[in-house]
Amino acid sequence: EESKKIVLVEDESLPAATKSRINKITSLRSKRVRVAGWVHRLRQQKGIMFIVLRDGTGYLQAVLSGQTSQTYEALTLTIESSVELTGTLQELPEGKTAPGGHELVVDFWKVLGAAPGGDDAFNNRFNENSDPSVLAELRHFVLRGETASSVLRLRASLLVAFRTSLAEHNLLEVTPPCLVQTQVEGGATLFKLKYYGQDTFLTQSSQLYLETCLPSLGDVFCIQESFRAENSHTRRHLSEYTHLEAELAFINFDDLITHIEAIICETVDKLLADPESAALIKQLNPSFVAPSRPFMRLAYTDAIVWLNEHGIQHEAEDADGNVIKDAEENPTMVPHSIGDDIAEAAERRMTDIIGTPIFLYGFPAELKAFYMKKMPGTSEGEKTFTESCDLLMPGVGEIVGGSMRISDSAELVAGYRREGIDPAEYYWYADQRKYGTCEHGGYGLGVERFLAWLANRFTVRWPGRATP
Ligand code: 4AD
Repeated sequence: EESKKIVLVEDESLPAATKSRINKITSLRSKRVRVAGWVHRLRQQKGIMFIVLRDGTGYLQAVLSGQTSQTYEALTLTIESSVELTGTLQELPEGKTAPGGHELVVDFWKVLGAAPGGDDAFNNRFNENSDPSVLAELRHFVLRGETASSVLRLRASLLVAFRTSLAEHNLLEVTPPCLVQTQVEGGATLFKLKYYGQDTFLTQSSQLYLETCLPSLGDVFCIQESFRAENSHTRRHLSEYTHLEAELAFINFDDLITHIEAIICETVDKLLADPESAALIKQLNPSFVAPSRPFMRLAYTDAIVWLNEHGIQHEAEDADGNVIKDAEENPTMVPHSIGDDIAEAAERRMTDIIGTPIFLYGFPAELKAFYMKKMPGTSEGEKTFTESCDLLMPGVGEIVGGSMRISDSAELVAGYRREGIDPAEYYWYADQRKYGTCEHGGYGLGVERFLAWLANRFTVRWPGRATP
């Protein structure tokens, strides 16, 4: 009853408070400051209240005592309420710890937006052991947690570091369209829609656009969403993902692989050299060490031999691509042979056994997209191999796919024909070969997969879900 009558009034005789974000607050030690944020943690004991405040830039411990802890608002305060706290920022005495090594001694505060208590209280809605479907449904709340927010923060640093590395290699950033009328990686995973009555797709890859930029801008890259109507229900397949793609002119296949390795290693080095991102990596993936260079290079044909030597088989399929099963309904397992698409399970087992990044290169042409350049002089019987490579990372598998592109017009037409593509819609792509062709190549990197590797996250996806 008594508490309801206490109304806090800011003491006008105190020095004016400086407004600050938590990550910029250290320079204001021993001054009066005002900080707004959300109640991340809350502890009340014998007339003293401890709040860990979160403002998105960091965490700050605040202590409320005397009248400030006795108001109605204080006694009914809940986790995740938004508040504004004003007080003196004091360095913590030796032996005490709190984020930043300081504590806000509050003399005035107010609630800006109270969060519910009781059954509806934030910490009663879910916890880390909740069912994944609950965590997915409440993703907007999960994001407020220390782990999810750290992953997002690391993702932001990663994008900055990638952009810096690419700029240092003289690649210019461009922003190609998302709504397109050409396919890049096969019709099976296209999202189709009608645009002014015409068939249009959500982009699978910006590669063709990057190629058209080469004669204009030189080497280019983009960080753009790509869309795949995937049938693969694995933990690394998303319907929408952030695709980092780059294209380089007047290079050969070896230059391409060396460039991919350099961009990845220099980006990781930047993250580890920056105290903030290094701390995030340490928090999320304590045992992370930068991979050593050069990465292993493994020819596709040698990988087939390796898989068979290690007894790693794949499911047999009939002519229509259906898995062949035995009487007990178990899939029939068979050894790998040249021409097989190395399936995700086999690829992951190989990568995890080898335990280091692997450039797997030289895939058979019939497994790959229409635009890929043939490998000179590596035909085995009737088979043609391509100057293509995937970068496989332990724990995740493929994170990069790249190749040299066909530079010859006639060869490109044969590629269209093989894939059943109508060349008319690709006239602009063909014109790159007709008006001053060049040897060129590029790659696409899945940002979520890279992040899963870096931060040791198990999955990049929430199955079958678009909400929230
Ligand atoms: O290997 P992909 O399909 O290659 C291309 O799209 C090329 N056109 C890129 C290029 O050369 N410019 O995809 C490239 C990368 C994959 O290695 C993978 O990391 C990621 O994109 N990726 C996916 N990530 C999440 N979910 C999916 N469904 C993905 N599909 C591909």
